[in-house]
Order: sequence, then C-alpha cells, then structure tokens
Amino acid sequence: MSSQSVVLRRRPTGAPSRDDFDVVSGEIPAPGPGEVVVRNIFLSIDPYMRGRLSERKSYANPVQIGEVMEGETIGEIVASNAHGYDLGEIVVGARGWQTHTCCKATTLTRITPGGAPLSTYLGVLGMPGTTAYTGMTDVGRTKPGETVVISAASGAVGSVAGQLAKRAGARVVGIAGGPDKCLFVQEGLGFDACVDHRSSDLDAALADTCPDGVDVYFENVGGAVQAAVFAKLNVFARVIMCGMVSQYNAAELPPGPNLGFMVAKRVHMQGILVSDKPERFAEWRGLAAPWVADGSLAYRETIIDGLENAPEALAMVLNGDNFGKMVVRVGPD
Ligand SMILES: NC(=O)c1ccc[n+]([C@@H]2O[C@H](COP(=O)([O-])OP(=O)(O)OC[C@H]3O[C@@H](n4cnc5c(N)ncnc54)[C@H](OP(=O)(O)O)[C@@H]3O)[C@@H](O)[C@H]2O)c1
Repeated sequence: MSSQSVVLRRRPTGAPSRDDFDVVSGEIPAPGPGEVVVRNIFLSIDPYMRGRLSERKSYANPVQIGEVMEGETIGEIVASNAHGYDLGEIVVGARGWQTHTCCKATTLTRITPGGAPLSTYLGVLGMPGTTAYTGMTDVGRTKPGETVVISAASGAVGSVAGQLAKRAGARVVGIAGGPDKCLFVQEGLGFDACVDHRSSDLDAALADTCPDGVDVYFENVGGAVQAAVFAKLNVFARVIMCGMVSQYNAAELPPGPNLGFMVAKRVHMQGILVSDKPERFAEWRGLAAPWVADGSLAYRETIIDGLENAPEALAMVLNGDNFGKMVVRVGPD
C-alpha cells in the first residue's frame, strides 16, 4: 500500500497556494522499534502553519523545501511495533500533511471513540481549545461583570475563549468578519454582542458595545482590530497575546503600535504558547468533553475533503474563509 504526502515545493510570497506544494506518493514505512503507523483520518489546519513556510525567525523551525508539511492529525493505528499499542486504536498527535504517519508511539494520545466526533480532538477538545483555556486561565483571569473582547471570535480559539469568559460571568463582545459569523457568535456561542470588523466603524462599534471599556482582550488578529481595542483598554486590563493572523501573509511587518498607554493604565500583556504547558491538554479535555457532550460548549467546523486540498484550506484560514475550526478529511472515519 502506498501513502501520499504534501511536501513544500517553494516558499510562498503572500498567501500560500496549491502551487507552493507537491503531492508525492511513496511506500508506507514499516514501523521500527517503539513505532506505529497511523492512517490519518483528519488533519488540522492552523494559522501557525504560515510561519513554518517562512524563514523568518520564529519560535519553531521552518519546514524545509522538499519536506512534508507540518500539522497535527487524528487517525487509526494500522501497524504497530510498540508494546501496548494495538491495531485499530484511535490516536491524536501524529504529524504531517500525509495519509500515513510512522512515528514513536509515545508521542501519541489515545482517544476512546464513541464520545465526541473525531475532528473535535483537533479543535474544541484539542490544541485550539487548550490554547483558549490556557490564555484565559493564566492571563485573562476574568472576574464577574468585567468586559471581555475576543477577536476572531467565531474561530477555533476565539469561540472557546469567549464561552469561557461567559462561564466566568463576564460581558463578552466578539469581533468577527461578516454578518453570518457575527450572528453565530451571538446566537450560537452566546456572546453578548459582536462587531463586524469588515463593515463597521470599529471605534464607534466598540464604543457602543463596550461602554465601560475593555478589561480583558484576547488577541488573535492584530492590525486595525488591535489598534481599536487597545484604545478602549481599562486601567489594569489584561491582554492575552495569542496570535496576529492579519500579519501572517505579510512580507514586511507593519510598524508596531505606540504602547505608551500601557504604563499609565498598568496593562498586563502576555504572550502565550500552548506548547509551554503540555499538561493542559489532558486537563482541558477532561474539563471540556462533558460540556461538548451536553451541548453547553458550542463549536463550529469547516471540513474540506481530500489531502490535496490542504493548501487551499490553509489559504482560507489566513483570509477568513473558514467558519470555525478548519480540518481536512484525509481518509474515511
Ligand atoms: N499562541 C498559541 O499557542 C496559539 C495556538 C493556536 C492558535 N493561535 C493563534 O490564535 C489565532 C486564532 O487561531 P484559530 O486557529 O482559532 O484560527 P481561526 O480563528 O479559526 O481562523 C483565523 C481567523 O482569523 C480571522 N482573520 C484573518 N485575517 C484577518 C484580518 N486581516 N483581520 C481580522 N481578522 C482576520 C478570520 O476570521 P474573521 O473572518 O472573523 O475575520 C479567520 O477566520 C491565530 O492568530 C493563531 O495563530 C495561537
């Protein structure tokens, strides 16, 4: 049996496209000692992948030309040379834009099927959900009655961050692109308000929806949205610096904001990386799985069929054409 992989052909300029990648076929390797082969079912598509396509200095090494593109999958063990890892087991944590992954079994997490849909272990119950939980727990520390603003509010991270703030008793305002996403943020996720950053006068809309200013801002996008929210931050506000997706396709980074206001307002702003606290993944799954099961934690997904369509899926995430967590269906469930 052969496997397919998507490898990097060239480094994209601006938005990535199909032409930046090649789809190649090869033999599925036999697993070495302690290894298993996973048949990937779903591949997670995430904004961080744009950074792996660039040689710009980052917290992680870039994918090299000719290498398999980076990404997390959920799939089924189809060959095992690792004690205690059986054929047919469902595991999350295999990596690569490929139909089959040969890897050390100890890098994988077993999932008991039959609970939530498998794709959710890459989204609401996986890395993006854990990111939201980490940011709100470590930096947001929301108190009842505070105003919390979430950018990319309908997305994989933002949708969870806002629902956690609601559970903490905050008034939650989302920022999202377009009327459909804003409607979902309010009616599907239960936020108190949502600002459409594509059509609104952001300053006026934030003044309207955040009359008492902003106590916590969960930053996912940067750019014009960031500038508008920063201007509304209250004294002792907390800012979770999670990502700035509006810049990921940019060849040159725009000049930074003037952060002088942070002094007078004693703003606490902290970057977070979900990988810093691996123990949070299991902690979050344990907390959130019952909420997903009873429907009290809402989520939305965009599922694209076919590994060869992964480059388009990544381009969609970077320009807002996804609606919720983006995953690619690599093989049958
Ligand atoms: N620090 C960490 O450990 C960590 C881990 C995971 C994710 N992240 C970051 O979290 C953020 C959200 O990730 P996600 O996976 O949840 O993605 P997502 O929100 O599901 O998708 C990205 C969204 O960004 C919005 N966007 C794109 N370009 C924009 C622009 N120019 N201005 C405003 N909004 C824009 C779009 O939503 P709209 O259509 O609503 O504008 C798009 O749907 C990203 O910055 C990502 O890098 C960080």
